[in-house]
Amino acid sequence: MKEDFPLLNNSDVVYLDSAATTQKPLCVIDSISGYYKTINANPHRGAYDLSVKATFAYENAREKVKEFINAKSSKEIIFTKNATESLNLIAYSYGLNNLESNDEVVLSIMEHHSNLVPWQEVCKKKKSILKYMYVNDCYEISDSELSKITSNTKIVLITHVSNVTGTINDIKKIIDVAHKNGAKVVVDATQSIAHMSIDVQGLDCDFLVFSSHKMYGPMGIGVLYAKEELLNSMTPFLMGGDMIEYVYEQDTTYAPLPSKFEAGTQNVEAAVGLNEAINYIKEIGYDKISSHEKSLLKYARKELEKLEFLDLYYPKDINNHSSIISFNIKGVHPHDASSILDSMNIALRSGNHCAQPYLRSLNIDSTLRMSIAIYNNKSDIDALVNGLIKVNEMFKKYNKES
Ligand code: ALA
Repeated sequence: MKEDFPLLNNSDVVYLDSAATTQKPLCVIDSISGYYKTINANPHRGAYDLSVKATFAYENAREKVKEFINAKSSKEIIFTKNATESLNLIAYSYGLNNLESNDEVVLSIMEHHSNLVPWQEVCKKKKSILKYMYVNDCYEISDSELSKITSNTKIVLITHVSNVTGTINDIKKIIDVAHKNGAKVVVDATQSIAHMSIDVQGLDCDFLVFSSHKMYGPMGIGVLYAKEELLNSMTPFLMGGDMIEYVYEQDTTYAPLPSKFEAGTQNVEAAVGLNEAINYIKEIGYDKISSHEKSLLKYARKELEKLEFLDLYYPKDINNHSSIISFNIKGVHPHDASSILDSMNIALRSGNHCAQPYLRSLNIDSTLRMSIAIYNNKSDIDALVNGLIKVNEMFKKYNKES
């Protein structure tokens, strides 16, 4: 698939940071420049041809997302800036208006800061309680942790795939337990959407979010899915143009869904790019994506496990593991290792991955993290393994000399 991606085709970078953002295929890049060359105008505002075309382009993208995740209606698809904005929207428009003092919000310790920090703020304001579900030795949430979801729980927050350990959570099971207890569920699908198909009706989730840029689409656009009745009951998060019906000197009525949650001029070119990214994923098909990525993940696990100087952090069962491997070279800071790997043209992330509570619960400060996508191959993994051996040797020599 590398040929589809100009950046990878035109350089010899070993790109292993797709969990941070994926590279973009030419069809996505072309769709964005095509939009600017032939359509560009402000959607929903003009009665003239270009504005109508821009409106069509934008609304076609919404329809595409609706089909892609099997939502009931395109009114349930709200475009935001990114998954972080989608999660803040839920916390402020739903959480702040529905939580009461002593209500509980149950979340996994794996949550990315963006599905955690907004809820800390809201819970402080409402005197509600944040309760964590922790992981076992296999970096998985055991069934016993689900008993933290009780009739006091009003909201459950769960990432589909951990951006640190690549753990795939059984979100269907968690949603069922939450619903039995009368709680709503927010699913963060940011790290799963490029790798596995999502069916929001099948899952029966109340809210689900993801970003376009982690699924071969452009940056600057994210998706919030929510059940229509929930969105109808919520107040807008951002106010301004296009989300109103009538504005009086002292009061305003709001536009119907989905406009109610889309204030101001929207990122139409990014919506066009996202539409094309979905076409690209559908053309390849999740079956092919998943079988390629699983076999690469299996190979990476096997090769990394041979390096006894590594500490590895991922689920034992490969069926519960997706596309991300975190690890450390014993005695070497991940930022140092990552800088040296960069000098060998190997790009991977180091740090706390915006999941400090998770790392703290594992007694780790930071890790190196490789993450794969459809364009990676075995030679990328081999390059990483050789690079890690060299970094380890450099530090062994340095430690001996000093
Ligand atoms: N949230 C992105 C990551 O995990 C940036 O790398």
